[in-house]
Amino acid sequence: MNEAIRPGPETPPQAAGLPQLSVIVPTFNERDNVTTLLRQLETALTGVLWEVIFVDDNSPDGTWEVVRALARQDSRVRCIRRIGRRGLSGACIEGILASSAPCAAVIDADLQHDETQLPKMLALLQGGQADLVVGSRYIEGGSADSFNKQRAGASALATGVAKRVLRVKIADPMSGFFMIRRDRFEQLAPQLSTQGFKILLDIVATARGKLRIKEIPFTFGSRLHGESKLDSMVALDFLGLVLAKLTGDVVSLRFLMFAMVGSLGLFVHLAVLFVVLKIFDVRFPEAQACGAVLAMTSNFILNNFLTYRDQRLKGFAILRGLLLFYLVCSVGLFANVGVAFSVYDQEPVWWLAGAAGALMGVVWNYAMSGLFVWRKR
Ligand code: GDD
Ligand code: MN
Repeated sequence: MNEAIRPGPETPPQAAGLPQLSVIVPTFNERDNVTTLLRQLETALTGVLWEVIFVDDNSPDGTWEVVRALARQDSRVRCIRRIGRRGLSGACIEGILASSAPCAAVIDADLQHDETQLPKMLALLQGGQADLVVGSRYIEGGSADSFNKQRAGASALATGVAKRVLRVKIADPMSGFFMIRRDRFEQLAPQLSTQGFKILLDIVATARGKLRIKEIPFTFGSRLHGESKLDSMVALDFLGLVLAKLTGDVVSLRFLMFAMVGSLGLFVHLAVLFVVLKIFDVRFPEAQACGAVLAMTSNFILNNFLTYRDQRLKGFAILRGLLLFYLVCSVGLFANVGVAFSVYDQEPVWWLAGAAGALMGVVWNYAMSGLFVWRKR
């Protein structure tokens, strides 16, 4: 079980200085924290061959420039600057996959995690006692005292849901501080979601008990500079992740959100239809068209803010995206009606035909939106 964790006797001489540990640091607007973190890693990891990979989502505060400058003085430092993408999980995945050290750790840039635990975590992996070591706030000796009441409540709730619904056994699946064998990670990587915040939960849930996990306590500190990027939207991401894992990844997080937004669009449509028909006394076809356009518009806005938060269109691209979205949805409507008709033809059950048409519509809209409206840059 302990293969390839330590360099063996057959290791060629040029491998002598290769890192045993790769520390992955996701960053977004952390320019005032990265230098301190690097110094602290240096101190904590004396005697270990290590490297650090900062994964920055093109921070407006220029974090990547600071990291780049550090990297020019220290070959252990690397910087991945991602453009047109956002997301903590995706950044961590990309960072781990960019390394080739046998062990990879993920740690926040804002000094809230405890880098002095890294050697202990590494020893557990190298000793073969575990495949994954989690820095835990919720076991004896750990704490999250810096949390306010609201944040502590949310964290406890999410932890409870994860444990009960996804049958995750560890005490702190919401932690963002962990170390994993890269080969194990590599096996799971294709099934992980790049969206959202909860990379550790995703890893543990996806592994379905196949990883040997150890938890070690740490104290979650307070942030020195800058601010947290956790907003109320991460609750949605979390919910989506739980549902996706429950359905064995048949439905993706994004698809679920897209479908939820779509159902909301139905309400918008009906509400507009009602108002225009009853209050403005417009004829039915015009009222129906009005409802459809407004529902598509609100769907577009919601999708741009929620479903594709990490690829949000901005400025002029919004207009272009909106027009494309109208186009996609109009074709989707034809697909919807077409399928509904042919099902009804075979089996004249109104709700079955209606549901089949709606499903066809949402699948079409989703697939085409991903291709044309919010396409990956
Ligand atoms: N590349 C990238 N892209 N990095 C990001 C992004 C992003 O979209 N969003 C946040 N980060 C980075 C931050 O710069 C920071 O280094 C780290 O991810 C954690 O983000 P914070 O904004 O500091 O989050 P937090 O302190 O509220 O959340 C922490 O606590 C959670 C547990 O309650 C994180 O450690 C989470 O991972 C953890 O689950
Ligand atoms: Mn933080």
